[in-house]
Amino acid sequence: MSEDMRELKIEAARAALGQVTDGMRLGIGTGSTAEEFVRLLAERVENGFSVIGVPTSERTARLCLELGVPLTTLDDTPALDLTIDGADEIGPGLSLVKGGGGALLREKIVAAASARMIVIADKSKMVETLGQFPLPIEVNAFGLRATVLAIEGVARELGLKGPLAIREKAGEAFVTDGGHLIVDASFGRIPDPRALANALNAIPGVVEHGLFLDLADTAYIAGDGGVRAVGAV
Ligand code: 5RP
Repeated sequence: MSEDMRELKIEAARAALGQVTDGMRLGIGTGSTAEEFVRLLAERVENGFSVIGVPTSERTARLCLELGVPLTTLDDTPALDLTIDGADEIGPGLSLVKGGGGALLREKIVAAASARMIVIADKSKMVETLGQFPLPIEVNAFGLRATVLAIEGVARELGLKGPLAIREKAGEAFVTDGGHLIVDASFGRIPDPRALANALNAIPGVVEHGLFLDLADTAYIAGDGGVRAVGAV
């Protein structure tokens, strides 16, 4: 990642930090932008700021522990004030594609448990139509072939085409924090994300998918001209 790109992520994270108030219960996202947020948050915590966070991945949990950000779980703290997370694509109405880092299931559970969700990103994530970034679909390993065929079937019915790939890492199947696999669906364009979301939700082997609809309230998008807020502020 270039220094300029990192700077944009930091700027977006800084804008989101401005929405965090003392005593908040936070959902803490996953990915390089969310990690910049954790670093900034940790500085505030070190200076006496009191927050408690639910991390959306083991990776984020490790970083929080390393930097001294206090953590809890959704079992102990089931209602959160605010979740701050990155995204792979941000489309119309703050519809999102997420899961590039493989954390989409916990990210969605945490976002749904939050009163508010803020997305932080650099300007490259803004799109007119979702789908250029391959859609991550978390699936149970049991019956994988049947589930992939079912995903292909619903995609065909919606006029979507493109390869489905089982995600790999270092030559092995990538396994999520929840012990599942990820199918990355390269549809190119998803003109009706809601129809696809509903169809994927109806496939038993699909655990969750990376379409986040009606979850994000605000996005802070960093570009050369500064940070722009999209949605409710
Ligand atoms: C992880 C995610 C991330 O939010 C998404 O991949 C964006 O990551 P980054 O900030 O590194 O671009 O959904 O599952």
